[in-house]
Amino acid sequence: MIIGSTIHRLPSCSSTNDVAMALAREGAEEGTIVIAAEQTAGRGTKGREWHSPAWKGLYASVILRPQQRDLSLLPVIAGIAAVEAIQKAAGIDVRLKWPNDIVRGRRKLGGILCESSWSGSSPTFAVLGIGINVSQRRGDFPPELRTRATSLRLAGWKAANPAALETSLWTRLDVWYGAFENGEAVAIVSAFESYLSIPIGKLIKVVTEGAVLAGVLAGIDTRARLILTDARGEHRLPPAEILDVKSPPAGRRKQGEAEHAPGD
Ligand code: BTN
Repeated sequence: MIIGSTIHRLPSCSSTNDVAMALAREGAEEGTIVIAAEQTAGRGTKGREWHSPAWKGLYASVILRPQQRDLSLLPVIAGIAAVEAIQKAAGIDVRLKWPNDIVRGRRKLGGILCESSWSGSSPTFAVLGIGINVSQRRGDFPPELRTRATSLRLAGWKAANPAALETSLWTRLDVWYGAFENGEAVAIVSAFESYLSIPIGKLIKVVTEGAVLAGVLAGIDTRARLILTDARGEHRLPPAEILDVKSPPAGRRKQGEAEHAPGD
């Protein structure tokens, strides 16, 4: 097993991604993990903050030295590993929202932040940061997140122990990183699609470069782009935000398929 060959446990740090990037630059071996009880400057995607109170969540970053040149499926394998680890350790069904969110119903439970360093067109290393809300109660979230975020405790996991999640996470990540390095992109995409919170076939709206595109969710491709179809054909979208979801008009629904909301 590569993932978890070395584990650095920190009581507190700015961001485990920052520490892991620095260790990787100094030559840390593939599979090295940095895990912190607290982050004082946890980072999310798009420059957002990742709220990381002490002992309430799992905040970890894994150093990888991929042979593959296209890293777009790395956040995807982290999401798949997180869903499977949560199912195994906590028995809680969580889903993925493209591109990087781990969700329970309509609420965000975790996220992935993948950063990399390059030499020409080859990656020298990548850092896969994973944040999962574990034992927060509603009041532990800042007011602006209370209606949008959740934790495994709030989802019903009584033990709510970040440490109990770790081993399953490293094991599942090891399996899926092996698949990634073996070029098993189709199997990775298929697993990701099976864990989507918004089922394939739903009508969605996506914000891309200032424009809003509406169409039917057809899946993701092997470069982690969302495939959306509309009257003009097929669009393959780079990471963007899914705004809205509806079932197709009744005539286009499969028999027995009920209308339901995102993540239901
Ligand atoms: C997101 O959904 O915006 C991504 C959140 C990623 C948070 C994790 S916590 C561990 C690692 N260190 C960070 O600073 N961020 C990632």
